[in-house]
Amino acid sequence: MRSKRWSLWIKSEEVSKVEHSAAIIGCGGIASAHANSFRALGIPIVACADINRKAAESFASKYDVQSLYTDHRELLKNERVDLVSICTWAQSHADITIDCAEAGVKGIMCEKPMCRSLGEADAMIYACRRNEVKLAIGHVRRFEPSYVEARELIRGGMIGEPLYAAFHTSGGLLNNGTHLIDATRFLLDDPRAIWVIGGVERKTDRYERGARTEDLCAAVICFEGNVRGIVEVDTPNRPGISEIILCGTEGVLQVAWGKGVKVMRTGETGWDERKPTGENPFIAQIRHLVKWVEGEIEEHISSGEQARFTMEIMMGIYESVRTKRLVKMPLKIKLNPLDEMVEEGDMPVLKPGRYDIRLKT
Ligand SMILES: NC(=O)c1ccc[n+]([C@@H]2O[C@H](COP(=O)([O-])OP(=O)(O)OC[C@H]3O[C@@H](n4cnc5c(N)ncnc54)[C@H](O)[C@@H]3O)[C@@H](O)[C@H]2O)c1
Repeated sequence: MRSKRWSLWIKSEEVSKVEHSAAIIGCGGIASAHANSFRALGIPIVACADINRKAAESFASKYDVQSLYTDHRELLKNERVDLVSICTWAQSHADITIDCAEAGVKGIMCEKPMCRSLGEADAMIYACRRNEVKLAIGHVRRFEPSYVEARELIRGGMIGEPLYAAFHTSGGLLNNGTHLIDATRFLLDDPRAIWVIGGVERKTDRYERGARTEDLCAAVICFEGNVRGIVEVDTPNRPGISEIILCGTEGVLQVAWGKGVKVMRTGETGWDERKPTGENPFIAQIRHLVKWVEGEIEEHISSGEQARFTMEIMMGIYESVRTKRLVKMPLKIKLNPLDEMVEEGDMPVLKPGRYDIRLKT
């Protein structure tokens, strides 16, 4: 994940002038990227929490965190914290966000996927609005230099009017799918979806870090302006490459995390390749949150409200499978339609035996 091209060096005037304190809830893999980002911004991490005491202990010792907890509610009760990173599994994002908002923190950086249903997303947004807490979601591609450059090129008309955006990824719709759908929206200047239609197969009892997921998924999204998004997650005969290909009226563009941007305009025969560099995207997304908290920007580019549109698309894809229809937005169902189908017996597994593609325990 770490690339030498991303500088961890911060100019002193770019470090926040206001003193903030931070806490991290969920001390596993991605928590390190958040801890390193707070450190790079000169923001002390005063506490951490993990339901697994060993994980909390090893994290606290690695990042020199004074207080550790096995229940995030105890942390929120005992510590004065301004910024919280929620780095737990998807199924706890909503409850922890709401607890943090009610405890009066100033800003929350919650990892992707935002949550597990549109109802949860609404509850998170509502709790944050009511308590005047800034909520950002870790769709970190919005800060990755290749994606930032690609959006500028598209905005500048490099491929003309966008017609199609397509990607293939792996690891579940709500896991890597959320990154790529959100990044597609980012590249297209955050259009809303008009309708979606999708297909999902779940022959096995598949989970991803404890959250139920499908075996594979394919979908078409119609965005405002009639631009199409073609989604493939875990479909066969293509490795998980996670790059987005955009076709426009005057050319084609490809972008992938850390790999740069390639453009071919109509009539050209070769790729114009660019390898933009910039700040580490994990630092950039937290710096952006600090600016939002300090009132320097109107809204985080990956705010809870933005991430809700991505949740709505993913839930719309599941709802299309449930209703066997094209689903028009705004989406009405607040529950997770995949969970509904499985729990109602409408999507029986053919090979019983629950397994998790990411959790080792
Ligand atoms: N933005 C990215 O590129 C990126 C990369 C990796 C993971 N993620 C996301 O980050 C989240 C965490 O992923 P990870 O790979 O770090 O998982 P992980 O399993 O390595 O770590 C998660 C930690 O959270 C703890 N935890 C779970 N529920 C908890 C709760 N209710 N309270 C406190 N602690 C709890 C677990 O014990 C574990 O130590 C997931 O939502 C994942 O999708 C994002």
